[in-house]
Amino acid sequence: MSNALKVVAINGSPRSNGNTARALRVMTDELEVAGIATETVHIGNKSIAGCLACGACANTSDNLCVQKDIVNEVALKVRAADGFILGSPTYYAGIAGTMKAFLDRMFYSSSRYFRYKVATMVSVVRRTGGLDVQHQLDNYLGLAGTITPPSQYWRVVYGREQGEALQDAEGIQTMRANARDMAWLLKTLDASKAIPKPETEKRVWTHFIR
Ligand SMILES: Cc1cc2nc3c(=O)[nH]c(=O)nc-3n(C[C@H](O)[C@H](O)[C@H](O)COP(=O)(O)O)c2cc1C
Repeated sequence: MSNALKVVAINGSPRSNGNTARALRVMTDELEVAGIATETVHIGNKSIAGCLACGACANTSDNLCVQKDIVNEVALKVRAADGFILGSPTYYAGIAGTMKAFLDRMFYSSSRYFRYKVATMVSVVRRTGGLDVQHQLDNYLGLAGTITPPSQYWRVVYGREQGEALQDAEGIQTMRANARDMAWLLKTLDASKAIPKPETEKRVWTHFIR
């Protein structure tokens, strides 16, 4: 049963073997041990432009972005997966720029496909701003209606030079625990597939001016 379950991990750092990559690998290793298939994609080292706010993705049958690049490729992988992990380094107390452009476009075009997927995140930081990144990443997950597994602490890992993150014993333990909880949640949801999802209401949209 669980062999069919899959998680996509997204590395938003330009350093494909940096601290974010190491933290994500700790998580994917733990997931694999629990029988969950994983795939890691590195988007932080790609050239990714921001959202054009053209709205085209809302009006096509596949809801893909008009900018034909890796964002659509990864969006399709995530749509097909049971869960996903967002990993971002902290740049100026925020999500790294390329990752921000990627997330804006992937979530704007694909959030409707992510509801009830199991999703979590990790932010990596030298010193300050990791929790800000955590909150920013959570904004995407929450609005998309994903289900986040519990963790023993906020999912922030510390390190500056590539590989230092592995020396943050508590941060790494937190990510291992979060990955184990993710595997459990994936299997639990898979086992309860027969229970129908709650009914949804017609959406009310207000813009505070009408
Ligand atoms: C442009 C830039 C901005 C950064 N801003 C911060 C920051 O605001 N706070 C902080 O603690 N570290 C900051 N850092 C350090 C990185 O968050 C840290 O080195 C992290 O380990 C990078 O993750 P990576 O190895 O996955 O790329 C910054 C690094 C760069 C390159």
